[in-house]
Amino acid sequence: MKFFIDTANLAQIREAYDLGVLDGVTTNPSLMAKEGITGQDNVIKHYIDICDIVDDNVSAEVIATTFDEIIKEGEALAALNEKIVVKVPMIKDGVKAIKYFTDKGIRTNCTLVFSAGQALLAAKAGATFVSPFVGRLDDISTDGLALIEDIRLIYDNYGYETQILAASVRHPMHILECAKIGADVITAPLSAITALLKHPLTDSGLAQFLADHAKAAAAKP
Ligand code: E4P
Repeated sequence: MKFFIDTANLAQIREAYDLGVLDGVTTNPSLMAKEGITGQDNVIKHYIDICDIVDDNVSAEVIATTFDEIIKEGEALAALNEKIVVKVPMIKDGVKAIKYFTDKGIRTNCTLVFSAGQALLAAKAGATFVSPFVGRLDDISTDGLALIEDIRLIYDNYGYETQILAASVRHPMHILECAKIGADVITAPLSAITALLKHPLTDSGLAQFLADHAKAAAAKP
């Protein structure tokens, strides 16, 4: 399973990359705004900065919502760096644009997916990634992980190559459940990824090992 970090914060992207487990980055306009990145020139520069840190798979989201504008914006984003994946919303013109980009060899991430039907359309259009939003479904008392299971079943039934990118992942249990279901990718905040590291028995076991080692060293004649 690939790990993407869901942030536009360069320090956090560097930290996850330095951990050696990072396969990509997802951003969205809200995440960019959270980092104070405004204005198209600054947004473009920020994508380039992110591409300079990671090896591949930098999702850059279009703001446009009509076919011609999505194509124009998406082609400009894709031209920035070969690591860019054009992130396109699950709307009618978005699906048409995904098909267009696919035919041109431009990778896409179909975002804002909340149903299996939407995921089926994204795969039919040839999206490289489909982003079902697990946490936002949970937020409205709907089982986000059940959607990942449904999409996995449908894609496996027909051998669709679109990768399931579980998005809006909020905590380590989401990551583990996505791994059990067989999501191809998760994108999560740094805190959810590093939470996988933690176990109290690891901490107490290490403390005991180090104490025993020090005791033995001190007792040595
Ligand atoms: C990623 O592609 C999505 O934009 C992101 O995971 C949304 O997460 P949120 O629901 O926590 O905002």
